[in-house]
Amino acid sequence: MTSSAPRPLSLSAAGPLRGTVRVPGDKSISHRALMFAGLAVGESRITGLLEGEDVLATAAAMRAMGADIERGGDGVWRVHGVGVGGLLQPRTALEMGNSGTSTRLLMGLIASHPITATFTGDASLSSRPMGRVIDPLSQMGAEFTASPGAKGSKCLPLTMRGICPAVPIEYRLPVASAQVKSAVLLAGLNTPGITRVIEPVPTRDHSERMLRGFGADVSVEQTPEGRIIAIAGEAELRPQQIEVPGDPSSAAFWMVAASIVPGSELTIANVGLNPTRAGLIQALRMMGADITEAQPRTVGGEPVADLIVRHAPLTGIEVPPEIAPSMIDEYPILFVAAALARGRTIARGAEELRVKESDRIATMAAALTAAGAHVEEVPDGLIIDGTDGDPLPGDAQIASKLDHRIAMSMTVAALACTRPLTIDDVAPVGTSYPDFYQTLDAVRR
Ligand code: S3P
Repeated sequence: MTSSAPRPLSLSAAGPLRGTVRVPGDKSISHRALMFAGLAVGESRITGLLEGEDVLATAAAMRAMGADIERGGDGVWRVHGVGVGGLLQPRTALEMGNSGTSTRLLMGLIASHPITATFTGDASLSSRPMGRVIDPLSQMGAEFTASPGAKGSKCLPLTMRGICPAVPIEYRLPVASAQVKSAVLLAGLNTPGITRVIEPVPTRDHSERMLRGFGADVSVEQTPEGRIIAIAGEAELRPQQIEVPGDPSSAAFWMVAASIVPGSELTIANVGLNPTRAGLIQALRMMGADITEAQPRTVGGEPVADLIVRHAPLTGIEVPPEIAPSMIDEYPILFVAAALARGRTIARGAEELRVKESDRIATMAAALTAAGAHVEEVPDGLIIDGTDGDPLPGDAQIASKLDHRIAMSMTVAALACTRPLTIDDVAPVGTSYPDFYQTLDAVRR
């Protein structure tokens, strides 16, 4: 887990990046595959699962609640589930490490089971707001108690007591969050009647797609109020074969790296292009990036293609705030692209970045400023004046703040600096992209 010893790393620029990279399985889809398979009766098989620390935390928690989860020598994960309603009382606390997705979605599952569970996490996760799931799940009947020593009454460590039967609710999302949406829908799986979530702004829809694939009765209706997602409770899930597509949020680092390092051309194979996740490609193309989609196909019910990205001069843009949810995890790396672009980039309407694995607005403002970029921090984003392709000075110490995406974004920034950057801790990269640095070594020329 990320509580392991810090791993500092110094990085310098090198030549162009060339070759083909295969990104690991999508993190959001991997979590959901393990959870839903863990509730289906019979054997599900998952290929392409992300074997990062966050997803392994989900696997461990589902095992602790009775699911039988094994990784075969062939890399295929075989899961025998307990059936909806069949989760067992875990004997020890559920250790969530750095993973907000594991925590919030599992809280949803447990809310409608008659079990009690304690959630613990690392320093980053223990500072993140859980009120956003506690509120709707309490309306459904679950009870939450903060532990002495927690940073706040709605922060980890938390103990929750689920209830069966829970009460179905209709819940309008106060923040654009797929984790909150999914928590309520997952609680609804074992709740009599219909549970509804109203989503004024669309967020990633992997839960809806995959729950349908597992046989749950999920309907989605577009209304003037937003999308209304309804799930019929006391569902029975049928086991599935799932192929997890490559993670667009991991591909994002290569897209920007190839765009900003002169002479680069990378093929990024098997990238998930679900429209609720593809905002960065749209933003980079607006900036002038050269990104081609090849071999479009469907993998595991999700649109996928290979991306070919060539170096191209980038120009600053005003990032449309309405695409924020579809690129919410990609802002740190977009900020790096903006720091090298010609002119000004205004990225606002992204206040959610303040409650990610770190405060990604403040952390990236500090990191890019240290590297010599021109950055102004505003409450809901950053305004960045780019170098017009000139390298940043570098020669700076960067704090990654237990945040994998900060570590990887500033690694990419180092490829466009005159002097080295030293990142204080790149160990968090293991949460979502364990092979990131091996891949970087393989494509540097
Ligand atoms: C996720 C949703 C997003 C995203 C996170 C994964 C998911 O979080 O940032 O990395 O898998 O549902 P929010 O729901 O907080 O926006």
